[in-house]
Amino acid sequence: MAHAAYVFDAYGTLFDVHAAVRRHADAIGPGGQQLSDIWRAKQLEYSWTRALMREWKDFWTLTEEALDHALERVPSADKSLRADLLDAYFKLDCYPEVPAVLKSLKAGGARVAILSNGSVAMLDSAVRNAALDMVIDDVFSVDALRTFKTDPAVYDMVTTAYRLYPDAVSFQSSNRWDVAGAKKFGFRTVWINRAGMPDEYRDLSPSLILPDLNGVG
Ligand code: LAC
Repeated sequence: MAHAAYVFDAYGTLFDVHAAVRRHADAIGPGGQQLSDIWRAKQLEYSWTRALMREWKDFWTLTEEALDHALERVPSADKSLRADLLDAYFKLDCYPEVPAVLKSLKAGGARVAILSNGSVAMLDSAVRNAALDMVIDDVFSVDALRTFKTDPAVYDMVTTAYRLYPDAVSFQSSNRWDVAGAKKFGFRTVWINRAGMPDEYRDLSPSLILPDLNGVG
């Protein structure tokens, strides 16, 4: 079934969060995967705790703080790579199928948007770097609200802006917790299970599970 709008999570769904560490893999050495995993896990943890505390900092600041923690936890990684890693995170690669899938959804007449915890600056940079600016109609950042997913107010930005009922929006995320939040809000949800993870949040199930974005729409 075609939907009026196809809305995508950014990090992990369109942009490969592990590409930053991979770009400097040789310089980092064997702790690279651990560094990348801790970096991502802490970035997300900080977003949830700060949303609950109502002590918001933008996602770029949380990304920096999470990297500092990860670098302490993986002593073999050279701390002087901090600036290079952050620069790479600002210009992450998109997954290979992303441009074609988004183009085809847009050609079918749907609105195509991003809804992300990312700051406006980091999302603009990622979109431009991946040359997706011609195909994405709108980038909705939590900066406008000063909270984070899974606060329902975040998902509501899309329905308010587009004047759509939630079930007219198909929301795609590779983050199972984000799918749960979007499902609770009322979106049609597609879990992009890139990592082949077992299901969770079973009372908040997606409509569809795909290994990548091919087949969305
Ligand atoms: C986002 C993160 C949470 O883009 O993946 O919202």
